[in-house]
Amino acid sequence: MQQKGRFFAPEIVLQNVTVGYGDRTVLENITTVLPAGKISVILGGSGCGKSTLLRNILGLVSLKSGTIRLGDVDLYGMTDQEAMAMRRRLGVLFQDGALLGSMPLGQNVAMPLREHTALDEGMIEEVVRMKLKLVGLEPFVHYFPRQLSGGMRKRAGLARAMALDPAILLCDEPTSGLDPITSADLDQLILELKATFPMTIVVVTHDLDSLFTIADFVVVLDKGKMLFQGSLEALKINTDPFIVRFLGRMPTRESRVIAGGAGVGGRASLASPPETTLT
Ligand SMILES: Nc1ncnc2c1ncn2[C@@H]1O[C@H](COP(=O)(O)OP(=O)(O)OP(=O)(O)O)[C@@H](O)[C@H]1O
Ligand SMILES: [Mg+2]
Repeated sequence: MQQKGRFFAPEIVLQNVTVGYGDRTVLENITTVLPAGKISVILGGSGCGKSTLLRNILGLVSLKSGTIRLGDVDLYGMTDQEAMAMRRRLGVLFQDGALLGSMPLGQNVAMPLREHTALDEGMIEEVVRMKLKLVGLEPFVHYFPRQLSGGMRKRAGLARAMALDPAILLCDEPTSGLDPITSADLDQLILELKATFPMTIVVVTHDLDSLFTIADFVVVLDKGKMLFQGSLEALKINTDPFIVRFLGRMPTRESRVIAGGAGVGGRASLASPPETTLT
């Protein structure tokens, strides 16, 4: 969707996309349309190529064949300069959070602003505070990543991904490693971001509760292929043995709590200070 020269929440169109590394093909012949302004969830077993597909949508891994369009723009058919401008419109929450440990939170969020805008220091500080407020971390602007909990680091990664008001937000396993309550909070945050900003959101997850809470559209990958694409309703009644097994084997948050593996200790509110204090 293109408006007045700006690039709002475009659909992401993959046409016969084959991707891999070197001689190796990871995913073959993927054709789908991730709908504009919605949340698409990419599901699949470990190592099936979910992160690889996200890297392709970012333009970071070259295509073996096929095309990827973001709205009207052919991602792999542009000049380096155009690609740079495009990258500015994409926000990413990487699987490991990817915050720089040597920098406090505020500086981490400021990085994309320094790299891609000519804003002065005062403006950068203001935008950083605004973005941290969005994810409930404003009081922690001077904290280093090591002083934050896992959930706070994910939120901080989201604040950084949102720094440049992206048209497309890509999140790689945003709830992995988090307790069920923090995971549920993060799902709500993603839903709030979707409701507040014109963005197309793509989330890779293994989390069944997340899937059923946030997905408007689902893509399932297995053995190098796309096994399913469609709505949650269609996914639930799909009879493919892999999908039935995959959905049946993914633990729900409730079962994780009962099993005692989730470490639930009350609401992991981001407004509550972490144990570490700054001197
Ligand atoms: N930079 C790379 N160079 C070569 N091979 C890679 C690279 N990154 C990933 N791969 C390979 O591509 C395949 C898919 O990896 P990818 O990280 O996309 O999987 P994933 O579905 O995201 O897995 P997980 O759920 O464990 O994060 C794996 O076999 C992996 O070894
Ligand atoms: Mg991955």
